[in-house]
Amino acid sequence: MPSDATTKSSRKILVTSALPYANGSIHIGHLVEYIQTDIWVRFQKMRAHSCHYVCADDTHGTPIMLRAEQEGITPEALIERVHGEHFKDFSDFAIEFDNYHSTHSDENRELSQDIYRRLDKAGLITKRTIEQLYDPEKEMFLSDRFIKGGCPKCREPDQYGDSCEKCGATYAPTDLIKPYSALSGATPVTKESEHHFFQLGECEAFLKEWLNPEGDAAPLQLEAANKMNEWFEAGLRDWDISRDAPYFGFEIPDAPGKFLYVWLDAPVGYMASFKNLCEKEGLDFDSYWQPGSDAELYHFIGKDILYFHALFWPATLKYAGYRTPTKICVHGFLTVDGQKMSKSRGTFIMARTYLDHLNPEYLRYYFAAKLSDRVEDIDLNLEDFTARVNSNLIGKYINIASRSAGFISKRFDGQLAATLDDDGAKLVAEIQAQAEQIAARFEARQFSEAMREIMALADQANEYVSDKAPWVMAKAEGQEQPLHQVCTAIINAFRVLTIYLKPVLPGLAAEVEAFLNIEPLQWSDVDGLLTDHTINKYKHLMKRIEQPQIDAMLEASAATLQQTRPSPTRHGEAQQTESQQKKRKVAKAETTTPDNRAGHAVNDEIDNTIQFDDFAKIDLRIARIVKADHIEGADKLLQLTLDIGEEKTRNVFAGIKSAYSPAELTGKLTVMVANLAPRKMRFGLSEGMVLAAGPGGKELWILEPHEGAQPGMKVK
Ligand code: MSP
Ligand code: ZN
Repeated sequence: MPSDATTKSSRKILVTSALPYANGSIHIGHLVEYIQTDIWVRFQKMRAHSCHYVCADDTHGTPIMLRAEQEGITPEALIERVHGEHFKDFSDFAIEFDNYHSTHSDENRELSQDIYRRLDKAGLITKRTIEQLYDPEKEMFLSDRFIKGGCPKCREPDQYGDSCEKCGATYAPTDLIKPYSALSGATPVTKESEHHFFQLGECEAFLKEWLNPEGDAAPLQLEAANKMNEWFEAGLRDWDISRDAPYFGFEIPDAPGKFLYVWLDAPVGYMASFKNLCEKEGLDFDSYWQPGSDAELYHFIGKDILYFHALFWPATLKYAGYRTPTKICVHGFLTVDGQKMSKSRGTFIMARTYLDHLNPEYLRYYFAAKLSDRVEDIDLNLEDFTARVNSNLIGKYINIASRSAGFISKRFDGQLAATLDDDGAKLVAEIQAQAEQIAARFEARQFSEAMREIMALADQANEYVSDKAPWVMAKAEGQEQPLHQVCTAIINAFRVLTIYLKPVLPGLAAEVEAFLNIEPLQWSDVDGLLTDHTINKYKHLMKRIEQPQIDAMLEASAATLQQTRPSPTRHGEAQQTESQQKKRKVAKAETTTPDNRAGHAVNDEIDNTIQFDDFAKIDLRIARIVKADHIEGADKLLQLTLDIGEEKTRNVFAGIKSAYSPAELTGKLTVMVANLAPRKMRFGLSEGMVLAAGPGGKELWILEPHEGAQPGMKVK
């Protein structure tokens, strides 16, 4: 830890990435942020600053509660499982948090509830009774995203509660035509409830001052600051920070049945994770969070959550008596091959799917080569990805080592020369001279510029190698010493370039350190030379990307996502931020439709969407096949006698003779449509229908419920 005695140049830095939701897996879009942050943090650590990087899972809110319910487990069990998965994904991408905590923690409960109390004391909380739509069947209030109905403007059915995806109209959920709950299908009723609001409008003067500090560097990039000004112009509205039970979250102090809205406790999770780290490592929490703290505080986030981080969060901190962020570093969104990540194209790639096929450091390098300090979307172009990694990382950088290392081990017993030749000394000095320039790029998050400059230096090194042609020297008489010096210069150039790339490629750098037989490289190791030193035998450091790996990843990705659970859903309930309106995702209840495209030759398109009401019209029942008979003169039909718990059995003619014998069916359970209008057939009256799948002939399978279902039970 830096003490007062340390020079001013040793900074005290706390860094966060946004806390990923605990109801979905990490995908390569997320990784833009965590890789960007990790590179920056690793750079700061290499510069010998005190830098802590904390994160956590964002665990609260309705979607998580509902998903746990759907999986038949407690929310606690769900978030614990996901915590493990997230942490493993991040670790495997070499994203090295100093702490990875959870918002469902004691530290967070205490801090969040205390912050609520402090805001209340500051007079910033107000209570108002509001009317909201309520699902009488699920017995819960419905946020906009869980209400659907017809668009009041263009009449398109099945639109979400706040905006129409067809015509773009925005409206209140109460305006919908025939609204229904996306959870149960029930018709919502309006119900009153008292809500707690944070009066953001009261914080406007402070926020404007925070945004444009006198003297100090501005906390936001230009694009983000412009957005803020738009929000100021539109007027800051009160923020609804309470939710009614049932809700998975923290209770509001002294307000039974009321919970803190997840977006209130989520950023507090940054503090909570750090507090947890402080307890483990004996750090002084207050010295980081008190007003006037000498620590720097950086939040890395995506552009979609700017509103929460640039308005609510600084205001919350300020009026709860804490310091405010030094900088909010905002990045854009990831596209793949120029388009939004897409499940059907296989470009919605999960972190794990990527890891199953490709080296994580390829992606770290590629993102670094694309990331700037602007709020721009970045594109993962898969062809460009392969080309850049192969030509820059391997063709330029790795190549430097592989072209000289063999001579050192074979001809000089692994020993580097004591001196360099003039050209070699000049080359290494030129590479070293760029250290501060490149450091400034990293500091300013201009990673793509840094990568460009580093690769230009690698070009210079490769030119030196080509000019000197050590392979020619190796064959000539009396060239031992020049060969030794040239190879030593090359190794030295490679060592300095490795320092520059280490924040991006920590795994590769560790292998280089082992190969060069040196201590972990710090930025200050740029100066000086590695001479008269024994290095280890060179093993190839990195393989090229081959097209089949990419193809296999896309295929696997398309396949896993076919059977996947709901995509990570947002929990921006009822918050009318613009970004969230754009980001409507399908409510969980609907994303679980079984998908039969995975690996099977089924070409039927899914039929037009129906309303829940339409589905509810079909009365499906468990039926026991008490008897099955052949029918005289019928070549397709079997006659089934079905028990569905009524007094009388049902008679049904089913076209399944080609696939089943009566003996196979007798005694089995199946599913029947019990309210289908009876139909008069040649052999008698058919009183319903049994359900079967398959193209026909031998390929027909009737449905059979799991054991335990009883005749007459309703299927819903
Ligand atoms: N839980 C909130 C953040 C709370 S912070 C107090 C959340 N979670 S998230 O899982 O949806 O997103 C986590 C981060 O990943 C966000 O900063 C988000 O912008 C970023 N990204 C998610 N998808 C992304 C892309 N496709 N591209 C780039 N970044 C993306 O928001
Ligand atoms: Zn519409």
